[in-house]
Amino acid sequence: MHDVSVLRSLHRDRFQAEPVVFAAPGRVNLIGEHTDYAEGFVMPAAIDFATLAGISPRTDGKIVIYSENFGEDRIFTAGALPDKASQHWSDYPMGVVAILAGEGHAIPGFSLSLWGDVPLGSGLSSSAAVEVATALAVTSLLGAAYPGPVVARLCQRAENEFVGANCGIMDQFISANGAEDHALLLDCRDLSYKLAPIPSSVALVIANTMVKHSVAGGEYTSRRAQVEEACAVIARHRPEVRFLRDATVNDLAQWGAEMSPNALKRARHVITENLRTVAAADALIRHDLVELGRLMAEAHWSYSRDFEASCVEADAMVVLAQDLPGLIGARLTGGGFGGCTINLVERSQAAEFTEQLGARYASEIGIVPQILVCHASGGARRLG
Ligand code: GLA
Repeated sequence: MHDVSVLRSLHRDRFQAEPVVFAAPGRVNLIGEHTDYAEGFVMPAAIDFATLAGISPRTDGKIVIYSENFGEDRIFTAGALPDKASQHWSDYPMGVVAILAGEGHAIPGFSLSLWGDVPLGSGLSSSAAVEVATALAVTSLLGAAYPGPVVARLCQRAENEFVGANCGIMDQFISANGAEDHALLLDCRDLSYKLAPIPSSVALVIANTMVKHSVAGGEYTSRRAQVEEACAVIARHRPEVRFLRDATVNDLAQWGAEMSPNALKRARHVITENLRTVAAADALIRHDLVELGRLMAEAHWSYSRDFEASCVEADAMVVLAQDLPGLIGARLTGGGFGGCTINLVERSQAAEFTEQLGARYASEIGIVPQILVCHASGGARRLG
């Protein structure tokens, strides 16, 4: 588990300066997949795994960023920031710096140490955690204080405009605004949100298929393009439909034939997923865990069959969980094509569940999965 004193001492040893330290968590999405960029609904929770960022000023006009995870540093000149990505881990923090500079901030020299325990490439938003931790650290140095939703938007822009990954707002938003022991139902149209308490008797069991996931990969982008293609067809008939958030299953019945078969399936997933996500938040709020589990199962198969964003391993992880003790609901979480499943499990049975799921997956797939028992953590914050 991440430890602020370890980050402090590695920053001190490397830079001979006392850092101010911030933490930003990764996330797991309970339901609402590929709906954020369609201005729909998502319901993620922040998790116990996080990126820590320690920052201290420098007087030589340099920006030195050290990643403990990569065991490497990168040096930039504050007065001549890069304007494009270099396909390197430093793109994520430097993207945030570049966006802040674009907002009119004069960026001074600084040393930044990063260290995180969000598993990389596992669909738990390690990138958003790096961006949000960096944003809090750098804005504190600038003496600027942005509200959480604004931090989220700046970090999303860093990823869209600098890194070149076409993600939505969900990951950065929950990292910046998560609340301990709550899931957050976010309306991605206006960023209004509602917190839904997760009962203390329920554990978030995150099962890593060990199949690598990346938003920067081509599949994410091609799915997004198909969603936009379907929306454009509906908008020809109903111009008030600006995003699939505005569309209905009835629109698909009427005009689906004008879409490519894939666009139609992707749209069916997004439109029904929005309905499921709002219903799931209601179910969680009224403690109807049976209904929540049912909606998660429906969401998984819609994601797998209509959106075709699952994989053999993730489908197996969901199927193998079905009759295990304590399961409330299971589905693939995050951008898709690998990564983790989220399992809501009765906390009293979580240890048994984890052991049996791990053994079943290892014997069926031949890979030992990493399974993490988490709870919903708070959003990004200063640690001292
Ligand atoms: C990734 C993206 C998010 C969202 C999800 C899918 O995590 O970063 O913006 O689109 O995939 O729900």
